[in-house]
Amino acid sequence: MKKVLTLVTVLLLVFTMSACKSDDDGVITIGANIYTFNDNFMNGVVRPELERYAEELGVELDVVDSEGSQATLNNQVDTFISKGVDVLAINLVDPAAAGTIIEKAKDADIPLILFNKEATVAGVMDTYDKVWYVGTDSAEAGIIQGQMMLNDWQANAAWDLNEDGVLQYVLLKGEPGHPDAEARTLESIKAFTDAGIAVEELAIQPSTTWSTTEAGDTMAAWLSTGWADTIELVVCNNDGMAFGAIQAMDNASVDIPVYGVDALEEALAKIGTGDMNGTVLNDGVNQARATIDLAINAANGVDILDGTTWVIDAPTGTKAVRVSYVAVTADNYSDFQ
Ligand code: BGC
Ligand code: CA
Repeated sequence: MKKVLTLVTVLLLVFTMSACKSDDDGVITIGANIYTFNDNFMNGVVRPELERYAEELGVELDVVDSEGSQATLNNQVDTFISKGVDVLAINLVDPAAAGTIIEKAKDADIPLILFNKEATVAGVMDTYDKVWYVGTDSAEAGIIQGQMMLNDWQANAAWDLNEDGVLQYVLLKGEPGHPDAEARTLESIKAFTDAGIAVEELAIQPSTTWSTTEAGDTMAAWLSTGWADTIELVVCNNDGMAFGAIQAMDNASVDIPVYGVDALEEALAKIGTGDMNGTVLNDGVNQARATIDLAINAANGVDILDGTTWVIDAPTGTKAVRVSYVAVTADNYSDFQ
């Protein structure tokens, strides 16, 4: 009898432990960050949905601001681990520093979901069986943006201001080395060259935090160098930077076609008023939901896609869920408002 009782006790203990995770109250705790709360998209779209959806699903979510510093993020991860969170949801500051975070998670045997900034070191995702990525196919946004700009260029002969058949453009780039920024920069212009249209890059300027203010200052400088009648297109890696460019154009009383990525509320409004020509929906709401869904499954130790409709892009073997981008123009912007 005593043996049976002991067995029952052990079984009960095992059961209680697995249902409760590390918390006494049985609630899953997710330790998360945003690389900087100054980012329009991450702080304005992704973070609110992470918080709302976590609450809806009854999990505890702690989101900290890494203030654009990978060193700060490393410390925040150490703190989360020492607090005993069940799972980490991390927005890298430096996409090349994924290995450091993965190693910390692996040493503590805590599952890790990376989101929005994909690791750039080859093979690093294979160093831990409990790490996954949630984001997009970086090139897709650039391909869509490029196609949109090309269609408009071909439909508006007057956009070729100097009538030389060549597109003179400026490009406001996001963070150098960020897969989204690199792929968007490449693909958006490739749409023109692939279509046999010659291009001339007047200038390109990156911004580490994809900053509206920096983009505004850059655009103002370009306009004041005498390019107000020369620039035929303003290509922006995201909407936040497009807003800065538009402000600078307003100040200088010029109106040059401008395109972004993200489809922030303000961008949709600007497309409505004709201040912006197009954007690409970066579905931060679904990226946030996928991040939480995967985090919960990882914490519970069940199949990572259990009970969800997400898919892992198996062919590339990157253990990633990629949410699709959608073109947003004057024809369909109101569908997204
Ligand atoms: C978004 C940008 C954002 C960046 C942050 C990108 O996917 O389009 O707006 O600044 O992620 O990592
Ligand atoms: Ca031209």
